[in-house]
Amino acid sequence: MASMRVLTQRSFGETSRRDTWWVQPMVVFLGLSAFIGYTTWAAFQGVNYFHDEGGAHYLSPFYSPLLFGQGNEPRWFASDRPSFWPEWLIFSPAFLILIGPAGMRFTCYYYRGAYYKAFWADPPSCAVGEPRKSYWGENRLPLIFQNAHRYFFYPAAIFVLILTYDAYCAMWFHSPDGDAQFGMGVGSIVLALNALFLGGYTFGCHCSRHLIGGYLDCLSKAPVRKKCYDCVSSLNNRHMQWAWVSLVWVAFTDVYVRLCSMGVWTDWRIF
Ligand code: FES
Repeated sequence: MASMRVLTQRSFGETSRRDTWWVQPMVVFLGLSAFIGYTTWAAFQGVNYFHDEGGAHYLSPFYSPLLFGQGNEPRWFASDRPSFWPEWLIFSPAFLILIGPAGMRFTCYYYRGAYYKAFWADPPSCAVGEPRKSYWGENRLPLIFQNAHRYFFYPAAIFVLILTYDAYCAMWFHSPDGDAQFGMGVGSIVLALNALFLGGYTFGCHCSRHLIGGYLDCLSKAPVRKKCYDCVSSLNNRHMQWAWVSLVWVAFTDVYVRLCSMGVWTDWRIF
């Protein structure tokens, strides 16, 4: 009890730690700020999200699945925006897509621990004084919404399947007369790695573990589910690493498709 009292009475930033505890929250702050800034910018562009030169079909993950669009790219609906969207309001196809992955990341157990420290110092790090005296918890607005995490898992899993299909499409190169030939460009690899990293992050989610291994009294009596559970657990063990590598790569994938479609980068066709 005595040590608990000492912990809660620390002033902001006060600690007896001698290591560089502030580096990790600072890196998280810079990394997430850069990602949020770039994603917001890319979402508002509404152009250069599809590269089809040389027969390639590369679609930015920020715009996939492409429901509406303005060019000749394959899209689900013929219109450039949904009918319910007000004419006066700026629209980009990415607006309809990013809410799902954003909700998944925002409510992720790992990210919560990371950005609570990095963005509002709650606490800045373990055994470091925080700028408030009481514990707010996640049992009232707005943080009670964090409990919706399990519901974001299902759309996120569907997004991974869609992005895997996009990666498959990126391995087929179309001739002007409409024939498609299997091939591989650098963009094909970029999109395939994107699906792989997002899959490693999504299927290593704690909700995925519960879905695979939950509701059973004795997991070892269901050998197939036990095997799946072990696979998910090994992804879950490295959830932080999957979270970061998938975050960086999904942004890079958008950059790659964007710069190729703008003609700044040339996609190298391997075969
Ligand atoms: S806990 Fe991180 S995605 Fe579910």
